[in-house]
Amino acid sequence: MESRYPHFIDLNDYPVQWWNKVIRLGAEIYKHPQRYVQACAGKIMATLFYEPSTRTQMSFQSAMIRLGGSIIGFDNPMSSSVSKGENLKDTTKVVSSYSDILIIRHPKAGSAKAAALTADCPVVNAGDGGHLHPTQTLTDLLTLHMEKKRLDNLTIGLCGDLLYGRTVHSLCKALSCYPGNRFILISTPELRVPDYITKMLAASGCEYREESSLDAVIGELDVLYMTRIQRERFASEEEYLAQKDTYRLTPEKMQHAKEDLAVLHPLPRVDEIEVAVDDDERALYFKQAQYGMYIRMALILTLLESKTVRPLLHGSTETEHRCSNPKCITATEDYLPHSMLEPDGNTLCEFCEEPVL
Ligand code: NCD
Repeated sequence: MESRYPHFIDLNDYPVQWWNKVIRLGAEIYKHPQRYVQACAGKIMATLFYEPSTRTQMSFQSAMIRLGGSIIGFDNPMSSSVSKGENLKDTTKVVSSYSDILIIRHPKAGSAKAAALTADCPVVNAGDGGHLHPTQTLTDLLTLHMEKKRLDNLTIGLCGDLLYGRTVHSLCKALSCYPGNRFILISTPELRVPDYITKMLAASGCEYREESSLDAVIGELDVLYMTRIQRERFASEEEYLAQKDTYRLTPEKMQHAKEDLAVLHPLPRVDEIEVAVDDDERALYFKQAQYGMYIRMALILTLLESKTVRPLLHGSTETEHRCSNPKCITATEDYLPHSMLEPDGNTLCEFCEEPVL
């Protein structure tokens, strides 16, 4: 069940040099977009969005249109045969036979990897549940490259929903690969990052610490990555309400921050950044959303031109273990192999990266 196509499921499937190449291409397209208007002429991109999206979906679509290609897809699975009970495998198999590249967002962790196992074209992970969001991370990296002129030796504060925030997980994974970065993880105890992220940070040798107060640390930061408390990922409304107003970035707080702080946010914002902060030059989140389109142009081009195929599954499928995470794609798509990773003696499901009990 291996694939013949170059997919983009997790940034860490590729070496840092590859990311840097895509970022340089994104910067080049940003400067000279007119040079690329025919680069994907005749190509079709499909977007399968099983979850709501504004920026990710539309920036992918406008990216392909600006490259001269065309788009198909759905943003409401209930208007497709998914509403009749079609599984992910069949939808992916068929839509990938109509297109040259397939972009998928889905509420289950590991869904993009699962789709890639059967797709007949490259698959891009546009967010798989609370797990990863690697194209948002490329967006964040291009923003830092353009606005901070470096991806290393930064003190990065990540604030808000660090448990369910897939953008946070992907960004920590990526920035820990550049030297000298320090992480300050600002959240309530209930919404702290999953253990696999702190383990990964420790293993990378990066300095990191967990904090609960944004006010106490804002003056130390080069980058502040704010996130939304994600109502839709909580088990109950009470749990969401208990968390929702904990962090709010205000103009007063910004007075204690460095003059060259970069405030990023993957958006959508709810109320964690006051609207008055938008007028501050350090508020870069709208620019960041625009960089997202350019980096996605670079990614589409890179994948369509790539000849290098990397293995999708790295773990062992000869296993008695079964993933017990109800938010994992293996919980609903029962034809999938059970593949287990065994870093440092732990057993993790390869699709959702959660420990197997
Ligand atoms: C994020 C996402 O969907 O993970 N948004 C995005 O893609 N730009 C963050 C969020 O929904 O809060």
